[in-house]
Amino acid sequence: MKVKHIASAILLAAITAACGGTQNNASQGLALKDVVADQFLMGTAINVRQAAGLDTSATNIVKKHFNAIVAENCMKMEEVQPEEGRFTFNDADNFVKFGEENGLTMTGHVLIWHSQCPDWFCVDKNGKNVSPEVLKQRMKTHITTVVQHFKGKLKGWDVVNEAILEDGSYRKSKFYEILGEEFIPLAFQYAHEADSTIELYYNDYGMDNPGRREGVVKLIRSLKEKGLRIDAVGMQGHMGMDYPKIEEFEKSMLAFAQEGVKVMITEWDMSALPTVSRTANISDTVAFQKALNPYPNELPDSVSQAWNARMKQFFNLFEKHADIVDRVTAWGVSDGDSWKNGFPIRGRKDYPLLFDRNYQPKPWVKEVIEEAEANSQK
Ligand code: XIL
Repeated sequence: MKVKHIASAILLAAITAACGGTQNNASQGLALKDVVADQFLMGTAINVRQAAGLDTSATNIVKKHFNAIVAENCMKMEEVQPEEGRFTFNDADNFVKFGEENGLTMTGHVLIWHSQCPDWFCVDKNGKNVSPEVLKQRMKTHITTVVQHFKGKLKGWDVVNEAILEDGSYRKSKFYEILGEEFIPLAFQYAHEADSTIELYYNDYGMDNPGRREGVVKLIRSLKEKGLRIDAVGMQGHMGMDYPKIEEFEKSMLAFAQEGVKVMITEWDMSALPTVSRTANISDTVAFQKALNPYPNELPDSVSQAWNARMKQFFNLFEKHADIVDRVTAWGVSDGDSWKNGFPIRGRKDYPLLFDRNYQPKPWVKEVIEEAEANSQK
């Protein structure tokens, strides 16, 4: 089935090239999305400049290699409702227009998240937590307005992001402080009431962690027991050279699928830089800064080889479980776009994405494309 599809993709590329068609680089053969066409959607996050068509080097890659997009920032709570009752959808509408014009599957990110949540959302004018009733009403208004604004345009929404901690307990966010565990089922309920056709996802990071895995499994069960819709779990997939362990990541993929939901790798990137804990006490010494930002010019071959091998291992893992994986989404188009250049430490030069700063595919991407092309010739 897969080989057949790839063969027809090559044929199409050849015909388009022969007819002088405009398909990007058609004569160069397959794109990444063709490699996995019968397995899962191949997505990328895009930023507001890209959504507005102001970065054609990046958007040419998106059009060629990806068939799904998610907004890196412009659908977040503080972006779409910066003040109570004032909804601003300009950037998000550009994103949807770009997706529609290019036939891309779109995911909404995100309805309820403690981060990038506007200051006003959970407190009153005096800065005191609002009552449970007021917060419920604000959540309902936000979710209903946003979901309905994009009705018919998106495939699904990340309904709640990053609510479960590594010990499986709930993050002590304002939402939790005010509403307790109920805030999650409420968010799913409001989203479903706003659009009963849209897919609904729970999204989180560090999903390889056994405690969080258990916590998320419990959450899926409790949503289902309440009769609420949950279609998939999004595993963010922000990785480094020494985390996560591939076996633990795989265990979580299987554990979630076992609960009857699909799995999505929603924010895939792999830092090539030394791992720094978010809580690390960062010293200012020049030597220490150099150690933290070791490749300010380019990635040495040895590191690049290890990085490419590890990315390919994970990609192969996703392919191995294509029956449960619905979408794999990179968190940005090219290395220059990545949030990892500024997180967890500002001003580092990182190399975490599928395309480099010159918009060229990384070696492992070229390899999987070439392998698919070779297989289709057999
Ligand atoms: C990040 C964006 O990439 C940055 O541009 C922004 O400054 C902060 O947020 N988990 C998520 C994403 O769910 O929304 C975050 O995106 C990365 C971590």
